Amino acid sequence: MIKKCLFPAAGYGTRFLPVTKAMPKEMLPIVNKPLIQFGVEEALAAGIPDMAIVTGRNKRAIEDHFDISYELENQIQGTDKEDYLRGIRHLMSHCSFSYTRQVEMKGLGHAILTGRRLIGDEPFAVVLADDLCLNLEGDGVLSQMVQLYKQFRCSIVAVQEVPREEIHKYGVIAGEMIRDDIFRVNSMVEKPKAEDAPSNLAIIGRYILTPDIFELIEQTEPGKGGEIQITDALMKQAQRGCVLAYKFKGKRYDCGSTEGFIQATQFCYEQLYSKGLLY
Ligand code: UTP
Repeated sequence: MIKKCLFPAAGYGTRFLPVTKAMPKEMLPIVNKPLIQFGVEEALAAGIPDMAIVTGRNKRAIEDHFDISYELENQIQGTDKEDYLRGIRHLMSHCSFSYTRQVEMKGLGHAILTGRRLIGDEPFAVVLADDLCLNLEGDGVLSQMVQLYKQFRCSIVAVQEVPREEIHKYGVIAGEMIRDDIFRVNSMVEKPKAEDAPSNLAIIGRYILTPDIFELIEQTEPGKGGEIQITDALMKQAQRGCVLAYKFKGKRYDCGSTEGFIQATQFCYEQLYSKGLLY
């Protein structure tokens, strides 16, 4: 039912300079696998085969990653090393990849709007690949959200409880609890000061959006930081109808920050790589 996943991947990644000067943040490796590959795997595992990636300048490595590298593959053909390509080959044979470029980086809302032509008029998922979400105990976060969408048929944002001193980094929701892990959103603030935050529930980089969001983004003026914020458009959608916030099961690492990146690397090394499960 949800067939497309949008990956806004045009941001500058300034928190990771200098490595992001000429290399996309989404290609940072967690041990041996780039962040965006984890995101594509999560989408495919949720039954979503069509990946729509919003890139920008200096992001060509993303396109090359989801393509054949003839010389290299010829070189290792028939050797044990082919095993390293098992994961990426599986994705390439089960997914389609389409790309568009955001020319001016005017914020996440604007990046999502840039992807409109790739998505069309249907509900879609959004993955911010720098938020690495893992659930080794069960369904991935996007799978959990797709199941919820089937039941509620409205936009859904993934949320996580975060400590007060961290809340200013996030979009924060307030809402009425309709199940112990689901809230109907009635208010949303982008990067509030701790004292102004309506709750400790922070929006992380997984969304399911209904297509009316595009028109709402078009009507959204630049907000916090002069950027077109998806939270502002979602707030309008919540006032008009229904937006749910879902407290997902699993772990999430903010790999756009060096601390989160290191924690994710350590976790994946211990729980996956050293057991031969990361390829
Ligand atoms: P971030 O807030 O992490 O910004 O964007 P950033 O530029 O990537 O990183 P820093 O803060 O400078 O280190 C959240 C997501 O939105 C995308 C980013 O690529 C990231 O996936 N984004 C943001 C865009 O695609 N375009 C934009 O104009 C802004």
